Amino acid sequence: MASVKRVGVLTSGGDAPGMNAAIRAVTRRGIDLGLEIVGIRRGFRGLMSGELLPLGIADVGGILDRGGTILQSIRAPEFEEEESQKKALETVERAGLDGLVVIGGNGSLHGAAALHRAGVPTIGVPKTIDNDIYGTDIAIGVDTALNTVVDCISKIRDTAASHQRAFVVETMGRGSGYIALMAGLASGAEAILIPEVEPDLDLVAEAITQGYRRGKRHAIVVVAEGVFKEAARTVGNYIERRLGFEVRMTVLGHLQRGGAPTAFDRILASRLGARAVEELAAGRSGEMVALVGSQLQSLPLSEVLDRPKPIPEELFRLAQVLSK
Ligand code: F6P
Repeated sequence: MASVKRVGVLTSGGDAPGMNAAIRAVTRRGIDLGLEIVGIRRGFRGLMSGELLPLGIADVGGILDRGGTILQSIRAPEFEEEESQKKALETVERAGLDGLVVIGGNGSLHGAAALHRAGVPTIGVPKTIDNDIYGTDIAIGVDTALNTVVDCISKIRDTAASHQRAFVVETMGRGSGYIALMAGLASGAEAILIPEVEPDLDLVAEAITQGYRRGKRHAIVVVAEGVFKEAARTVGNYIERRLGFEVRMTVLGHLQRGGAPTAFDRILASRLGARAVEELAAGRSGEMVALVGSQLQSLPLSEVLDRPKPIPEELFRLAQVLSK
């Protein structure tokens, strides 16, 4: 196998705090290994149109603690098509890239696998606030988003308790309830609704009623956006009809994806980014770097893709017991 000299790095899909820390790690560890690093703007779309910028040590200074991604990110569903992949391969050829690091979620890792199959040495780095990538205990961005949600819920709890109000808080998570579950557990929410568990709104109403009977001054229901269409409104309206009092609803939305990454995310992104470029330098391809326990591992993308990541159901039950 030809030795790797010039490596491209791109960020793809919905952004997540810690992406910049990963770009910095790929760049600085790559240069440390004697490689040239090239940033690719706007994910796979920038790879198709050749939007490249060389990255030196100083270019990635001052970004470790910044949310978002200096390379910008995009969802590019067209990258599933062969025609789009051909354009990307032309850029790879023209730019003399002999390796790629793709920092992305499930969809982006499919793109990484396609490039690997087409002969471009490619390593994936898992990022998503949803924590729905199989094979890694946690992805870049999850810890920061979780802390953001927990912080928002404690602020909501202050006002809820002042008015003896019930609140429904909607988190992100189209197909995954991880953030809702963990934030609910960490906040002592009276009820949690996630896509992985059949919703039982009677149980939610009962938990609220019992809580007030025991003397609680507030009720917080956390619902992941994927549970119902207009999840917060649907749950809030139900509770209002059923219990006969006003409910306030808060949709946290994209603020969950912004902000400075936590120390955990900075360290995770630094480790995964460095490991990804080390893998390329060692001649490996078609893998995703992952955190398993406290150790980094590399797993074949073919074993990771299209596999549902189970949520820790015992924690769902624990949250129900502890929020009494
Ligand atoms: O990053 C994943 C995610 O946060 C999902 O939970 C959410 O549904 C989606 O992104 C929304 O992202 P966008 O508005 O960028 O399409």
